[in-house]
Order: sequence, then C-alpha cells, then structure tokens
Amino acid sequence: MADHGEGPLKRVSTMGYGDRSDEAYDQWAQDYEADLTKYGYLSPQLIADALQDYVGASATVVDYACGTGLAGVELASRGFTTIDGVDYSQGMLEFAASKTVQGRPVYRELLTVDLTATIPIEDGAYDALICVGAMGGGHLAPEHLPELMRTIASGGIAAFYMNAIAYEGDGFAKRFAALETAGHWQIISETPSNYMAELDRPGMLVLAARP
Ligand SMILES: C[S@@+](CC[C@H](N)C(=O)[O-])C[C@H]1O[C@@H](n2cnc3c(N)ncnc32)[C@H](O)[C@@H]1O
Repeated sequence: MADHGEGPLKRVSTMGYGDRSDEAYDQWAQDYEADLTKYGYLSPQLIADALQDYVGASATVVDYACGTGLAGVELASRGFTTIDGVDYSQGMLEFAASKTVQGRPVYRELLTVDLTATIPIEDGAYDALICVGAMGGGHLAPEHLPELMRTIASGGIAAFYMNAIAYEGDGFAKRFAALETAGHWQIISETPSNYMAELDRPGMLVLAARP
C-alpha cells in the first residue's frame, strides 16, 4: 500500500485538482529538505541522471516547480551551468536562491509564476525542461503540460518525475497519450521506480521530446 507519509507531505499529497498548494509549501519550506532527507528522497538524482543521458551539460534548462532547488543542485553537480527555476511558492524559492555548487549559484534566474496560467517565457527559450514532484492534485495536471512544452525548442527534451499514485489513479497514461496525439510532445519513455527510499512511494519518470 502506497504511503502518503504524514504532516506536510500528507497535506500536499492529498489535495484536489484546482487546489493551490503555495501556502502549504511556504509553511513547509523551512523543514522541507530535512523531511525529504528523512524519507530518502531520490527523484532529483533520478531526473538529473535521465536528462544527462539525452542532453549535454551546456544545454539551457528550466526547472519547473523547482521548490528549494534540489534538482537544480543535482544538475549543477553534473556540470550544467545554465539553469533557471520557476515556482509559485516564495518560501521555497528563497531556499533555491541560496543554493550553490562549487561556489557558483545553481540558478541563473528564479521566477515566481503560477504554472497553471500563461508562463511569461518565450516559445523555445530552453533546450530542456525538468519538472519534479509537481504533477497531481494541488499541483499540475496534464492539461498544463502544453504550456510548459511550448517553452523548449523543437527537439528539446522534457523530463518529468511524478507520483505514480496520481499517475495510475488519475488516468495519466491515457491523458499523456492524448497530448502526444494532439502533437504537444513525443513520449520517449515512462519508467516506474520508488522515489522515497524509506517509504513505499511509487513514482514515474516520463521523458518526452517537443516535436
Ligand atoms: C514536492 S515540491 C517539489 C520541489 C522540487 N522540484 C523537488 O523535487 O524538491 C512541489 C513544488 O511544486 C510547486 N508548485 C505546485 N503547483 C504549482 C503551480 N501551479 N505553479 C508553480 N509551482 C507549483 C510547489 O510550490 C512546490 O515547490
């Protein structure tokens, strides 16, 4: 049986579609990384490894729903130098702004944006995007993905890591396939794994290219 955890993790894992989670993350920001370390959070490493297999470290990357910057740190540790972060929780972004790897800031720029609305970034601005832990109730739904995909170049790579409870329960496989049919992306792979070493927490890594 998949485990929702407790406290703030449970709160943000059990929200409904259309609910906003920014206040919950603002309140959690201070303890977020300590809590996730306790749970053995693996998705940032998994996504950085996956992206590295498809694009070189000189690629420009946007980290959607970057939170406190854990995935950005993983990319910067693998040599990526141009990473921008976007999130709507100011509390989480304050921690992302303080992240450095080898004395260099991890993020070139951080934007406070609600990703369920129009994103103030030009078409094709980046070579790749990542989005970790931000699909499902209280977060993003498949219908928000075309707006994210729009911001990477044709042939650019998108790497999503999401909770597989939402993936299975909310019919994401079918909804993702519909996005492919509509021409928004070409799915490269959908790979399940556990993403919290200390909990039974199934996840799905989705890699796609912009047509
Ligand atoms: C579980 S955290 C993941 C943070 C980071 N990617 C990580 O792996 O540690 C989810 C993040 O998604 C952000 N988020 C959720 N819905 C959002 C939305 N509509 N617009 C922007 N950010 C959103 C939250 O503020 C939070 O920082």
